[in-house]
Amino acid sequence: MTPSILLVDDIPSNLRILYESLNGRDYRLLIANGGAQALEIARRSHPDLMLLDVMMPDLDGFDVCRQLKADPATATIGVIFLSARDAAADKVRGLALGGVDYVTKPFHPEEIAARVAIHCTILRMDRELASRNRQLELVRDRILSSMTEGVVGLDAGGQVEFANPAATALLGAAMLDLPLAAWQPPDLSETVGRVLGGQDQFTVAELDLAATGTAPLPVELRVAAINARPLPAPASPRPPADPAGQPHPGGGDDPADAPGAGGAVLVVRDLRERQRVAAALAETNNALRQSHRELKVAQMQLIQAAKLETVGQLAAGVAHEVKNPLAVIQLGMDFLEQTLTLDQTSATVFADMQQALLRADTVVRGLLDFSRERGLDLTPDSLNRLINVSLQLVRHELVQRNIKVITELASALPEQPFDADKMQQVLLNLFMNAMHAMERDGTLRIATGLHRLRDEELGPQARAAGFLGGDLALRLLIEDSGPGIAADHLDRLFDPYFSTKPMGEGTGLGLSVTRNIVNLHRGSIDIGNRDSGRGARVVLLFHADAAPLPPTRDGATSIAAAVAGEPAPATAQSVSSPPTEVPRGEETHPAGG
Ligand SMILES: Nc1ncnc2c1ncn2[C@@H]1O[C@H](COP(=O)(O)OP(=O)(O)OP(=O)(O)O)[C@@H](O)[C@H]1O
Ligand SMILES: [Mg+2]
Repeated sequence: MTPSILLVDDIPSNLRILYESLNGRDYRLLIANGGAQALEIARRSHPDLMLLDVMMPDLDGFDVCRQLKADPATATIGVIFLSARDAAADKVRGLALGGVDYVTKPFHPEEIAARVAIHCTILRMDRELASRNRQLELVRDRILSSMTEGVVGLDAGGQVEFANPAATALLGAAMLDLPLAAWQPPDLSETVGRVLGGQDQFTVAELDLAATGTAPLPVELRVAAINARPLPAPASPRPPADPAGQPHPGGGDDPADAPGAGGAVLVVRDLRERQRVAAALAETNNALRQSHRELKVAQMQLIQAAKLETVGQLAAGVAHEVKNPLAVIQLGMDFLEQTLTLDQTSATVFADMQQALLRADTVVRGLLDFSRERGLDLTPDSLNRLINVSLQLVRHELVQRNIKVITELASALPEQPFDADKMQQVLLNLFMNAMHAMERDGTLRIATGLHRLRDEELGPQARAAGFLGGDLALRLLIEDSGPGIAADHLDRLFDPYFSTKPMGEGTGLGLSVTRNIVNLHRGSIDIGNRDSGRGARVVLLFHADAAPLPPTRDGATSIAAAVAGEPAPATAQSVSSPPTEVPRGEETHPAGG
């Protein structure tokens, strides 16, 4: 842009000389013949530079300059005074009023041209600098406004010079309007005051502004002195003096160099995020501790299981050793029974011995079952058939105890791979347990069916056996009307040797053997109390889709038919409709009833 220059002189010949000195160069020239006119043109046209005569009748040059500088609209116009007064005092006065130069008359036209050229260059550079400054300020403002951390600039007197939006949000606009001494809490103004006063170069403080009602937040505040030198490294506490004994430059003797001389910067951070992270960490930590505890428990259980395994093996060894002598005794007693004629007393003693022998044999067989080889002889079989066969085996006892049996066996059950002998052992154990619990006059309910499992009904045993909600399972329910199971016994039922039966009547191995066998079939067993009414409830689950399903023996058509029939299928066996394979006495009610 072409610089515009206003030439001011009340003497026309002087004006002409000025005009001719600059005419023909790249300037736009304006002319005023007095102080008042100069001001008027300056306000209207905003020239870049003014060549201003000092002595003029209406308004002298110094007054014109004073008025120009007083008005922000004209204050940036560069003023070069022209005067015949060459006293140093005049020059100083002119420059003090804001003039950029002072030229004494008479002057050489070339000198005027040269000075004007220099001042135009300076003016242009000034403008460029100002524009660059504005750009930098914009960038700085953009950075400061996008920061999530608050930044506050304080001057040396503790007055807020600037604050970014985050700082205003975190500290509150009201607080930033107050003088530093009035900031709350008092430790805040004290902390900042120490930095401004040069006692500290840098400090960090955590403040809960919510407690003072100034802001709703806990914040972390970092206060650094502007102009602060880097903190001395811990290893070299003081900079060494130079050989002349003078303090090292920057050693701190210059007051302008003192820390805090230029004010301070506050960086404010919202502590809630950190607190949230800390809380989340604590939570994770707790969860970890919890799973650690659970792991420990599981480990203890494993150790316990390993111990039991050893005990089992030991027991099996002992049982094996005892089995043969028992067989010899049994043979001997059979022989004696046939060859001797016993009187009444001897016959009673003999019968007791037979009883004891039987008992010993049961215990030994139990021990051997408990520790037997873990293998199955699987063939497709019907669960219903196995139930009926097992019921037949306990028929006599059921009748004696006057126990009523209700069977609800789904007719369309698919055959499953079962080890028939072992499954019978399972069923017998469970039936015997129920009978022993009821003692006399109870009801034993046995139900089978295909069942779509719901997630919430899966106990730990079922989950351990791999059952998931939505799976189709072959389910067997055995319910009795006995006293049920005490809450503190529920966890121990499957422990080997756990029994509530009187000494010598139960080995406590029945359920652990049962569970082993069921687990070998990839099934699960859960025992608890019935939801309604008195008594215990045993639930056995087998994977219905565990193996290819051969046609059922009773000619059942499909799984769908069996599922559709539950919970009490149309063909369910009940008191009034005995199944073909179960002898009458068992499922109606005890013989003689
Ligand atoms: N139907 C049931 N009702 C009440 N308690 C039961 C029932 N079934 C099992 N129990 C409890 O579980 C315990 C353990 O049973 P488990 O079959 O393992 O051994 P046991 O029956 O005592 O001995 P054994 O099986 O050698 O005769 C029983 O002593 C009894 O307390
Ligand atoms: Mg038992």
